Amino acid sequence: MALPAPTPETRAVVTGASSGIGMGLARELAARGHSLILVARRAEVMEELAAELRTTHGVQVEVRGVDLADRDARRVLVTELEDRAVSILCNNAGIATFGAVAELDPQAERDQVELNTVAAHDLTLAVLPGMIDRGVGGILITGSAAGNMAVPHNATYAATKAFVNTFSESLRHELRGTGVHVTLLAPGPVRTEIPDPDEESIVDKMVPDFLWVSVEYTAKLSLDALAANKMRVVPGVLSKAMSVAGQYSPRAISAPVVSAFYRKLGG
Ligand SMILES: NC(=O)c1ccc[n+]([C@@H]2O[C@H](COP(=O)([O-])OP(=O)(O)OC[C@H]3O[C@@H](n4cnc5c(N)ncnc54)[C@H](OP(=O)(O)O)[C@@H]3O)[C@@H](O)[C@H]2O)c1
Repeated sequence: MALPAPTPETRAVVTGASSGIGMGLARELAARGHSLILVARRAEVMEELAAELRTTHGVQVEVRGVDLADRDARRVLVTELEDRAVSILCNNAGIATFGAVAELDPQAERDQVELNTVAAHDLTLAVLPGMIDRGVGGILITGSAAGNMAVPHNATYAATKAFVNTFSESLRHELRGTGVHVTLLAPGPVRTEIPDPDEESIVDKMVPDFLWVSVEYTAKLSLDALAANKMRVVPGVLSKAMSVAGQYSPRAISAPVVSAFYRKLGG
């Protein structure tokens, strides 16, 4: 089993490609010869990445500056992707808020649901018929270890990730025998940038360096897992521990413990 072979016509789509894990996935896909469509809001950052990837790997790279939380803007992209030969979709863009839901900006909470769940769902539905028709495709969905548990003070985020975790692992089984692979990336902490010592978050302070995994490692592991049609990829020891604890601890016991930690993140 392998990823769809790159061709000049087909595209791998990566959302959230302007930073972090998405940028890592775009780089790794380009290194494997895939031409790309990069999606996020900051088009100028993605244009720089596109130029680098064209030069380094000789692939074609298109940039779509889209606010995926905006239904009208997203519909334009969805309509385009329905008619493109998308070989791989990495549904990766996501945001998280921390704090008590009652005290957070309601619009930001709604946008988070729209981006983390509805946009991922819309884009998947847009590319799926084409992948099934062609008998080949790969869909990587970035969920989170947080989606396995109740996470007070990160409630909207955890709930959105529960949606994508479950959607990914359910869809995968529906697609058996079609040639379309679906893999869930469910990380714990992935270091997307070196923290400024003066601006370290509580997570940066509490999680020792050796427990963080890099964007590059995460991207490579995730694409290897998608090629092998693995159900779930969980990079790193801490992520694996969080994943097991989240899936198998009774929520009545884990929620107060998790709450005490996440309350500090809410500031
Ligand atoms: N890093 C971790 O420790 C970790 C752990 C578990 C799960 N995850 C998940 O991994 C994914 C990537 O996270 P990351 O850590 O790499 O974060 P990141 O560096 O903050 O990247 C987030 C990406 O999403 C894009 N994005 C945000 N809002 C958007 C919007 N409204 N429309 C379109 N694109 C938008 C951002 O681009 P623009 O700002 O240019 O739009 C950026 O490219 C997320 O789904 C996150 O939940 C991360």
